[in-house]
Parts: sequence; C-alpha cells; structure tokens
Amino acid sequence: MSLLPHKHMLGLEGYSEQDITTIMDTAERMREILERPLKKVPTLRGITVVNLFFESSTRTRTSFELAEKRLSADTINFSASVSALSKGETLLDTARNIEAMKIDVVVMRHRSPGSCHFLAKHLDSIIVNAGDGCHEHPTQALLDMLTLREKFGTLKGLRVALVGDISHSRVALSNIIGLKTMGANVILCGPATLMPRGIEQYGVEVTHSLDDAIHRSDALNIFRIQLERQDVGLFPSLREYQKYFGVTRARLEKAVAPLTILHPGPMNRGVEITSDVADGEHSVILRQVTNGVAVRMAVLYLLAGGHPELSEPKP
Ligand code: CP
Repeated sequence: MSLLPHKHMLGLEGYSEQDITTIMDTAERMREILERPLKKVPTLRGITVVNLFFESSTRTRTSFELAEKRLSADTINFSASVSALSKGETLLDTARNIEAMKIDVVVMRHRSPGSCHFLAKHLDSIIVNAGDGCHEHPTQALLDMLTLREKFGTLKGLRVALVGDISHSRVALSNIIGLKTMGANVILCGPATLMPRGIEQYGVEVTHSLDDAIHRSDALNIFRIQLERQDVGLFPSLREYQKYFGVTRARLEKAVAPLTILHPGPMNRGVEITSDVADGEHSVILRQVTNGVAVRMAVLYLLAGGHPELSEPKP
C-alpha cells in the first residue's frame, strides 16, 4: 500500500506540492542513513524490485540499485541486450514473465515515451519510471529539486533556468512540471529548434539568449545535446552551439551574484559546459548524484514501504 496518493511514479504530472514535499522530506531522512557507518535498514525486506533497463544508464541504474540495497529489498537487474527480447519477445511478454516470478516493483527505462504507462495498465506491480524516451524522468527532477532546496531553503520564488536541448530532454519536462508545482520561476534557454512548440502552456518563460537567462536566474540546470534523439541536424555545429549556449566561467562572471550550477549528466565537457564551471565552487553536480540515492530510497519506501506484509519499523 502506497504512502502517497499514487500507486506508481510514471511522471511528476499529477503529483501535488504536498506529494513532492513528502518525497523530499523523506529523502532528507534517507540521506542521514547514507551518512551512517552502516548504511542499511530493513525497511523493504521481503520486497522484490526488478530494474528493467532497455537504454544505457550510469547514474540512474546504479542509484536505484544502491537505493534498493540500502533498504534491504531483493533486486534483479535485467539487461535488454542479453534477454529474450533479442529473440523477438515483446516488452509486454517480457514484463509479464518477470512479474510471474512474483516481483513487487518494476523500475523501467525505455526509449519509447509512455512505455511505463503501458506497463502500468497491464501489470499489477508498482511501476517507477527511470526515463521514458524524451517524455519524463521524475526521480531526476526530484533529486534536482532536493539539491536546490538544500542550497536555497525553499523552491518558492526561486529562479531556475533550464539550458540546452529542451525538446529532447525528459529531465527538462519533469523539472518544468515539478518546479512549477513547487512555486519556482522557470526560464527555458536554448536554440529555437530545440524548444518544444507550445511549451509556454506550462507557465515558463523562453529566452534564446544565455546572457539573459544568466542575468535573471539563481541557478542553471544545464542539459546536453541529445544527438541520439535527433533525426536531422537542428543546429549548424557543436562549435556554434558552444559559442552561443555553452556555459563558461567568463559568461557566469557577468552575473550579479554567483549562480548555482546543476547538470543531470552525462556531461559533454567543452560543449554545453566547460570543466572549470562543472568542477567549480558553485557546482552541485556531485551533490545531485548523492541526493539521487536518497530520493530513490524515498520513492521506493513511500510507494512500496506501506506494503501490508511489512512488519519492520519505518526509518
Ligand atoms: N541523469 C541520468 O539519467 O543519467 P544516466 O543516463 O547515466 O542514468
């Protein structure tokens, strides 16, 4: 039984300010566990989680697996490349066969937008979206917001610019939904060809000038160019992109006050961000990664931890 008014986390669409606050507050308690010498609690003992990753991942996959282990869940890792999918089995048959082995939670990354919604319709298990195509990546946005709240104390009224390839970024859409729900001001910055049409409906501002975005923001969340999701060239060259939208120390020094720098990774150093910015004193990029484990522990605990068969005390 979920401790949130949701069975699944398919996206942040539909998650209220209260839901997001509960997740972030719980993640802060989980972070304390990560700082203990013995980083393990029995909270999800008896719960089985399968990590279904159909796309490559470094941070999200490792982070979910670590979160599951820290909470004492049993975990199974599924790799598409060595599965029966390569013999023609469908996603639904694969998922149904795995569920028949009596699992409780499916964490899924898939290249198709909406794939986790499809699974949620056909399986009884709790589904957690670990990134579906260019649609949503809710736990990434939650860890970004937790990192900002840790730094600024609140998200209300905070001015956050999302810079880069907004069209192809699932992280951008989840950040837009989450930040707007939490009362932040969101500015989108990037080339017109990488800006989704009609995005203003979410109550965001759009600028095509990085200097303007820097001038009006407290924090920048910088996204890479997702060349793997582009069928045609949407800008002349990476060199030109870097010239107009690359975040450099020289550009940031023009700001009235130092900006906090976030990046969900993987980074293309020298393209959307220079190394002196990524590794600089205002970067919280590695703190995002630490917070990612705490956020995923919180999400798994809140969605699966209220399981009626669980008798262990909650953290
Ligand atoms: N931020 C993120 O989703 O990174 P991975 O692709 O390495 O999981």
